[in-house]
Amino acid sequence: MHYFNLRDNRLFAEEVEVEKIVEKYGTPIYIYSSRTLKRHFHAFDSAFYSIPHITCFSVKCNSNLHVLKTLKEEGAGSDIVSGGELFKALKAGIDPKKIVFSGVGKQDHEIREALYADILMFNVESMQELEKINQIAISLNKKARISFRINPDVDPKTHPYISTGLKQNKFGIDINDAIYAYRTAKELKGIEPVGIDCHIGSQLTEISPFLEALDKLKYLYTELKELGINIQYLDLGGGLGITYKEEEPPHPKEFGEALSKSLAGYPLTLILEPGRVIAGNAGILVTKVIYTKNTSEKNFLIVDAGMNDLIRPSFYGSYHRIAEVKPSGRPIKKYDVVGPICESGDFLAKDRELPEVFAGEILCIFSTGAYGFVMSSQYNSRPRAAEVMVQGDEFFLIRQRETYRDLVYLEENV
Ligand code: LLP
Repeated sequence: MHYFNLRDNRLFAEEVEVEKIVEKYGTPIYIYSSRTLKRHFHAFDSAFYSIPHITCFSVKCNSNLHVLKTLKEEGAGSDIVSGGELFKALKAGIDPKKIVFSGVGKQDHEIREALYADILMFNVESMQELEKINQIAISLNKKARISFRINPDVDPKTHPYISTGLKQNKFGIDINDAIYAYRTAKELKGIEPVGIDCHIGSQLTEISPFLEALDKLKYLYTELKELGINIQYLDLGGGLGITYKEEEPPHPKEFGEALSKSLAGYPLTLILEPGRVIAGNAGILVTKVIYTKNTSEKNFLIVDAGMNDLIRPSFYGSYHRIAEVKPSGRPIKKYDVVGPICESGDFLAKDRELPEVFAGEILCIFSTGAYGFVMSSQYNSRPRAAEVMVQGDEFFLIRQRETYRDLVYLEENV
């Protein structure tokens, strides 16, 4: 459930008419609903009420400081994958004791920064990384809390680009090598193994792959216990899917109940790293039609948001619902909705049925709060879009629209 609804035939974000925001800040523009972010966070977090847990919002899906602050106020921690994300999470005021650090390529300076910040734990993805963290921790006279990211070889049944827990993926360590990894870690002076971690993929629409992975991690937990290695945290990553079109992912409540039941009786704190399920449907991208163009093959709507603003359709063939902000009731036509970028792959939708649309009209692209703005670029020297937060009947800019100055300022006087 989100707060982008039609009222008197006008699209509203909470209590604000979307066209009002466009009048003030132009297009293309990302608009987030603060009420939706909070609602999604609580729906997720409260689903685990019966077991000790920490909900660490996955910063990679939306790292706007104001989004992070909104979630922090509700009690969120964060899942980070870079020094930059650590910087932003700390700047947003997120408690370091609720920060977990994943990623296959952590660099020395990033490890150092995380040790200084005293984050909850590193999710270690290789033995070389373990050794590196150990050396750096010793040199700083610290002990790094770690978990190993286990690759459980579970099929998440999602898009291959966002599957991460299969044997052929680059992530984590093979579950068959886990015992050796923990034994090694236990002997290292700069390391304290405290957790077991996995993340099997994104946009999962079934619970069973999560439960399958959890069973494997529980088994490992018991084996480690017998070896005298006392694990306190079990991190199951992110990955719960959302509805873009007709997907019917489990409700967080159902997800929480299933995991809580599976973990009942284990003296573990569950860590979750949800991203998309919190932010995905809490944001929209609003764009203006620049031209319409009809060829013998196609009707094109050429809009002012391109693949540089929202890359998901081009990159994954993802579906995003598109609608007018003021429904016209005109007859339906089939359109390719495309951006201004000089690439045939620059499209937001193909063969999409929409009421006839004219140049100058405004369209809304739904479910773009996660992996939308964060994956944007300046390709074709296009300044990035602005971002706005809506809160009840108020709205405010949370990232200025980039200007031509932003296209050159790092290149001048170098
Ligand atoms: N934890 C780890 C270690 C991850 O790698 C990810 C996502 C998450 C948590 C959050 O997953 P979520 O709850 O959002 O599914 N750009 C792609 C998605 C890439 C996901 C990468 N990892 C997309 O636009 O669909």
